[in-house]
Amino acid sequence: MKILVIGGGGREHALCWKLRQSPRVTKIFCAPGNAGTEAIGRNVPIAITDIEALARFAKEEGIGLTVVGPDDALAAGIVDLFESRGLRIFGPTKAGARFESSKAFAKRFMERHGIPTARFGEFTESAEAHLFCQKMKYPIVIKADGLALGKGVVIAENADAAAKAIYRMMEQRQFGDAGRRVVIEEFLTGEECSLHALIDGRNYAMFPSAQDHKRALDGDQGLNTGGMGAYSPAPVLTPELERQAREQVLEPFVRGLAADGLVFKGLLYPGLMVTPEGLKVLEFNCRFGDPEAQVYLPRLETDLVDVLEAVIDGRLAGYPLEWRDEAAVCVVMASGGYPGDYAKGKEITGIDTTENDVIVLTPPRMRVGRWRIEPAESDAIVFHAGTKRVDGRLATAGGRVLGVTALGADVRAAREKAYAAVEKIHFEGAQYRRDIAAKALRG
Ligand code: AMP
Ligand code: GLY
Repeated sequence: MKILVIGGGGREHALCWKLRQSPRVTKIFCAPGNAGTEAIGRNVPIAITDIEALARFAKEEGIGLTVVGPDDALAAGIVDLFESRGLRIFGPTKAGARFESSKAFAKRFMERHGIPTARFGEFTESAEAHLFCQKMKYPIVIKADGLALGKGVVIAENADAAAKAIYRMMEQRQFGDAGRRVVIEEFLTGEECSLHALIDGRNYAMFPSAQDHKRALDGDQGLNTGGMGAYSPAPVLTPELERQAREQVLEPFVRGLAADGLVFKGLLYPGLMVTPEGLKVLEFNCRFGDPEAQVYLPRLETDLVDVLEAVIDGRLAGYPLEWRDEAAVCVVMASGGYPGDYAKGKEITGIDTTENDVIVLTPPRMRVGRWRIEPAESDAIVFHAGTKRVDGRLATAGGRVLGVTALGADVRAAREKAYAAVEKIHFEGAQYRRDIAAKALRG
């Protein structure tokens, strides 16, 4: 079977890497891809939002399964279009993707179905938004309703900051139409963690726990980023909280779909806050997290093609998802200055280039497609994000450049291996956090 992966980040390299291990896969294409995906299959220079061109390519090439990485392709309706052309594709339709593309839609759904979340108001008139703020205790959280590249959330410490955020979003349209509507909610305190679950419309299969590191700098300082690293499992999600996640989030979610006549097939990734009163949902994402996918996929034993097809066909009930006992840690190496301005085109050295450009090695029981890979001492996997080849040399081409991932007997061992690999890799201005997974080692 030929596979097409949509996107070009670390998540998509990890998807290509995992899909390539399926004996059912003959060839992988990635649009637009990066230097890592290019080593696994063929990159296709089509933009992720040019869904018409992607559908045409999939038809012409006889693609058997398309897997969508980024939210904007889903929100643009790529799944609806592919399905209307008889093409198999993994991900929610445009209507299903509203859980991510409209925060107000997601909040109303949670309210209707008793899923714990912060109290909120929703506004299309800025005067009403200002009025609502007067009744709230600070800090408060102001969110653009639509997709804003992860930047549409402002935590306002006081009335002045709230008024400015509302003005920028609703009047100045800082995030374009995404800010036509805003959600204003109470500020929650606690530790964040994320949940991943496959949903086939009626059933869910929950992944093990993971935690992302959203801030740019050590100690959760600095600006919010797409994610500077991740690890799995995450001890913050205790067995008791895992039970709450099933009973209070995932079960009401699938029951709510049925009650509302909604269809959702794909990956649901709720962002959670572990508050003193229990779990609360901060947001829903409708796709694999990045970098979370880079720790989940190396832990997954099950054939990814088979399970994604089970989701599409509604056969997830009782599906045996198998996970390796080992922990995984991913350290993101970013360009200096990220998430602000940064330079591109810096040469990357130190990656032991094998055929699939991964410092390999491969854990024993793993199938490796057409490659014969000798088990080796080192077992970091370098997932590429913003990379490209320039005259045969590997160079930086984005904010997040690499996701250096390792498996180990526990989080401590995986973390040591990941950092040992990071130290071997160089590019000018490389920036990474030194405390990825440190939280898991406390206590
Ligand atoms: P979101 O895109 O809604 O997950 O928001 C992005 C980030 O803003 C989250 O990862 C949290 O760190 C923070 N955040 C969002 N909503 C809240 C809230 N109600 N209370 C505290 N922090 C929040
Ligand atoms: N890890 C953050 C995200 O994928 O949105």
